Amino acid sequence: MTDYQTVGLDTLHARNGAIKLHGPEGFEGMRKAGRLSAQILDALVPLIVPGITTEEIDDTVRRMTLEAGAIPATLGYRGYTHSCCTSINHVICHGIPGPKVLRDGDIVNVDVTSIVDGWHGDTNRTYLVGDVPIKARRLVEVTYEAMMLGIEQARPGNRLGDVAHAIQSFAEKHRYGVVRDFCGHGIGRLFHDAPEVVHAGRPGTGPELRPGMFFTVEPMINIGRPDCKVLDDGWTAVTRDRSLSAQFEHSIGITDGAPEIFTKSPAGLDCPVFG
Ligand code: MF3
Ligand code: CO
Ligand code: CO
Repeated sequence: MTDYQTVGLDTLHARNGAIKLHGPEGFEGMRKAGRLSAQILDALVPLIVPGITTEEIDDTVRRMTLEAGAIPATLGYRGYTHSCCTSINHVICHGIPGPKVLRDGDIVNVDVTSIVDGWHGDTNRTYLVGDVPIKARRLVEVTYEAMMLGIEQARPGNRLGDVAHAIQSFAEKHRYGVVRDFCGHGIGRLFHDAPEVVHAGRPGTGPELRPGMFFTVEPMINIGRPDCKVLDDGWTAVTRDRSLSAQFEHSIGITDGAPEIFTKSPAGLDCPVFG
């Protein structure tokens, strides 16, 4: 049985397996944190061009986060020492920023989580570097659409399986593979909390959605097979068949109606292919 816990101003937020149901102060907190993370991803748009290194991207994320009085959630998280993840081409997620130079035609995902007043805003986008071949652009566009179709299902009365099914059926219609090894997650005062938000599944299954739930939707979609492998650095996840992989992520809150997207781009740059 799914366990739900109503939380308020004086609740100690522990990872206890229950799905937390937040009140207005939670929505306010998540709006601020989500907005900052989205603004940082917006600011990267003009910087992500051929010749930039992923550690320059990381420097910008760290500087902007600290200048806003916030903290990069990944800095020191389980031994991770950077302020974002940068995942290029066949890297599915958790790519580590470094001296690697982005080249014309690459796609790169940047995943940012900032902590504002204790609340976590977790979001990522896949960027196009210079002139990107149509096959890769289509993957990026379909991945964005898949995330948004999943988010549309995030309403009270629906279940997480409905979110998963919307994403999986759309991606597989395009003959892409949906990664199973990584999931979305509950979020709030904790970075990673219950529930696990899968991106492939059957309608009508999984925990029921209730107003006040906060979680991420962050599908990873491959041109080839869904299978993944983690490199010896312990972080970098790549496609086993070396096919291209894209991802998008929003942090959302369940309301009585349509979900609130905390990490929407203030500049309207949510999807680089359209922007
Ligand atoms: N931001 C990632 C997520 O969407 C988590 C990154 S954890 C790190 O959940 F340590 F790899 F940075
Ligand atoms: Co993230
Ligand atoms: Co996340």
